[in-house]
Amino acid sequence: MTDLSRLTLEQKASLLSGRDFWSTKPIDAAGVPSAALTDGPHGVRRQAGTADHLGLNDSEPATCFPPAVAVGSSWDPQVAARIGQAIGREARALGVAVLLGPGVNIKRSPLCGRNFEYYSEDPYLSGVLGAAHVRAQQAEGVGASVKHFAANNQETDRMRVSADVDERTLREIYLPAFEKVVTEAAPATVMASYNKINGVYASENRWLLTDLLRDEWGFTGTVVSDWGAVSDRIAALTAGLDLEMPGTGGTTDAQIVDAVRSGALDESVVDDAVRRILSLIEQHPSETAGFDADAHHALARELAAECAVLLKNDHRVLPLEPTTSVAVIGTFAAEPRYQGSGSSRINPARLDTPLDAIRAIAGDVRHVPGFTVPDAVAAAAAADVAVVFAGLPDSAESEGFDRDHLDLPAEQVNVVRAVAAAARRTVVVLANGGVVSLEGWHDQVDAILEGFLLGQAGGGAVADLLFGAANPSGHVAETIPVRLEDTPAFHNFPGEQGHVRYGEGVMVGYRHYTTAQAPVRYPFGHGLSYTTFSTRGLAVEVTGDDTATVTVTVANTGERAGKHVVQVYVATGAGPVRRPARELRAFAKVLLEPGEERTVEFTLDRRAFAYWDIRYGRWVVAPGEYRIQVGEDATRVVTEESVDIAGDVITLELSMDSTVKEWFAHPIAGPALMQGMTAGMTPEQQAQAEQQQDQLRMVESMPMRQFAGFLGDAMPPAALEQLIEATRSGA
Ligand code: BGC
Repeated sequence: MTDLSRLTLEQKASLLSGRDFWSTKPIDAAGVPSAALTDGPHGVRRQAGTADHLGLNDSEPATCFPPAVAVGSSWDPQVAARIGQAIGREARALGVAVLLGPGVNIKRSPLCGRNFEYYSEDPYLSGVLGAAHVRAQQAEGVGASVKHFAANNQETDRMRVSADVDERTLREIYLPAFEKVVTEAAPATVMASYNKINGVYASENRWLLTDLLRDEWGFTGTVVSDWGAVSDRIAALTAGLDLEMPGTGGTTDAQIVDAVRSGALDESVVDDAVRRILSLIEQHPSETAGFDADAHHALARELAAECAVLLKNDHRVLPLEPTTSVAVIGTFAAEPRYQGSGSSRINPARLDTPLDAIRAIAGDVRHVPGFTVPDAVAAAAAADVAVVFAGLPDSAESEGFDRDHLDLPAEQVNVVRAVAAAARRTVVVLANGGVVSLEGWHDQVDAILEGFLLGQAGGGAVADLLFGAANPSGHVAETIPVRLEDTPAFHNFPGEQGHVRYGEGVMVGYRHYTTAQAPVRYPFGHGLSYTTFSTRGLAVEVTGDDTATVTVTVANTGERAGKHVVQVYVATGAGPVRRPARELRAFAKVLLEPGEERTVEFTLDRRAFAYWDIRYGRWVVAPGEYRIQVGEDATRVVTEESVDIAGDVITLELSMDSTVKEWFAHPIAGPALMQGMTAGMTPEQQAQAEQQQDQLRMVESMPMRQFAGFLGDAMPPAALEQLIEATRSGA
């Protein structure tokens, strides 16, 4: 590595912010090259001309792979990895050192305008997919930037809003995906988000960027700011933010130099950040090679088919026969919506349309462009099957703003309803980045294929799925609600007056619906196939105080090869905190030929059972009963086994602020207290006192400090203090 003593303070400071929009500053005299960082996450957005981070100006052609919303629905780390690998290759070919992605923020509300860039409402699923993407991309020599760290779950006021999140919720919901990626895939960089967390900008948050990220999770890479996320450069640097992007024309470099010279900033802080940036640049040399655009297009098509979710398939209307006469209706058949807007927007190397791909398979196809009821109805009535391509237009969802409803445009709903009334069979293919309401037309149609956004080859993939060349295997990675009002963040999204309160706590997505037993249109984890599967033989072996092994056998009971997603949930009421009804703790996607069966094994580690305890400031596994459930989705458990987990032996340290209940529950203090209270009593009084024990409920939440007054001489303060001492020493 470049010897830091050979660099002046000015040169060092110059490395701490960008040269321009997309690169770091070189220091020619010291042989330090410039490194290019660019978006990400589902393709390479390399701008040669006018630069911007809003997706406005064109970039070099690159393969637009399925965005994260689709990858999340694949439930397949192989899909994430193969995308990571391919875009790693393209990034290298385009001279990019760091590709900005993946985004692992949680879909807190379906309204978030950027949900298409995120995987799921579940942190475990997001973390597994994000880690697979990062490992594969970095194996190609291109650094990743896991983003947006952290609690960036909305676009409204994203540059200022304070996400007010309690500690347990942060630890259990909003941080684990980052934690998994950082600890298991070692991303080259982590991107600090725009927003504040509990009042402190993420980019200036020392707890987030240093205590947690580096000290607790062991991150050794570079922290880069989201583009323009730094408001106070010295505070950010001190908190642990190394690289400010984009460049500021040297203004903030000069501030750093001044702060060191005035003694306000220790030069060692600058040196540490410089070392990390130099190592980033040296480990990821930009080199230009080529990539096989045709092979990547074919890969994008294959992977897109893994992502789309067959929500509904009444009368087994799908797959269609090539001989079926098809009325293809709607704008998106010929002008597909395949990616979201904003900084992740790729200039696709090629673009398939569903219409062309359907025409390549089926002989009798009539297309009705746009959404006009009379034409659509006439075509639908004349065909065997009507396939309506509906979805959200580009303008409805994007980085930069949130939606304010979940509805499809009314003209589309009118067409779907009219077509469903006129056609023999109606299939709806959806294209949308965030979930949309299916109410008002769901029951009228026979089949729904939710494509979300499938990338540049999505058109081909949709045709493959409609005609059975591919078998649907996607499962929704977020709940499709009945009403927006039912969504857990409804009362607190997107916040007001600069604050958004995460009032639903850990009850995000299916955690809420399953716990409240609230109806949903389609639950988290739902997805159909053209074949059928069975699950049997669940066995759980507890392998330690807080770990277990799960085996379960799944079989393909239908007539086509297909992929089944085995979803393992853990359910418990153990511990002092409110637990969601069940939480996803393991999953696997398994390819099964007709008649084939396989036994799948999972390891449940400590974290599969743990909750975050705010009293101890750490993960705790509460002793007790845990049900290991295999679900078809988050609401349909098909088999379950109960196990006892020893967990952590934690004896609460008592104090005068502990409640009467806590005192009586304590293995040492409880019996001693009872003995002290009943010591001077006659046997009759003692029997009476024991009978009246349930009256203790009236005072059980009273702190001992107050309750002591009622105890009088039976238990004087000194005796209580002695008991506290005894519980501390375990005597
Ligand atoms: C986005 C990031 C992106 C960056 C660079 C920001 O506005 O939030 O996700 O990587 O711009 O384009």
